[in-house]
Amino acid sequence: AATTRYEAETAPAVCDGAIESNHAGYSGSGFCNSSNAVGASSQFTVNAASAGTATLAIRYAHGGTDTRSADILVNGTAVEAASAFSATGAWTTWSTKTLTVPVNAGSNTIRLNASTAAGLANIDYVEL
Ligand code: GCU
Repeated sequence: AATTRYEAETAPAVCDGAIESNHAGYSGSGFCNSSNAVGASSQFTVNAASAGTATLAIRYAHGGTDTRSADILVNGTAVEAASAFSATGAWTTWSTKTLTVPVNAGSNTIRLNASTAAGLANIDYVEL
């Protein structure tokens, strides 16, 4: 099925940090630079046509050298704990991470919760 893009900077998405646009290459009008704290989050509300599994794509950039791990939660349940968001080489170099997630028919909440005090990588959008 066709995917829909949900920008991190566009409500109903919620960025626990700042919406910024100082690193080129993002989609839309910016990206979510989460707080540098454990549990800092970027949250999305996405729609699925039917219950089952779906491919979730997460676009991010990480110009540091550490791995910015995050729990990936769907409707409040972690589907990947401390999932690795590896360094992309530069804050302007964006990469896409994909995973298969369980979804309900209709609205679903996707949330990234930072595993470490470094916070999340910069988050551009998700597609589902
Ligand atoms: C830099 C960079 C930010 C990034 C931050 C971080 O300040 O400009 O976009 O979010 O590092 O390490 O999280």
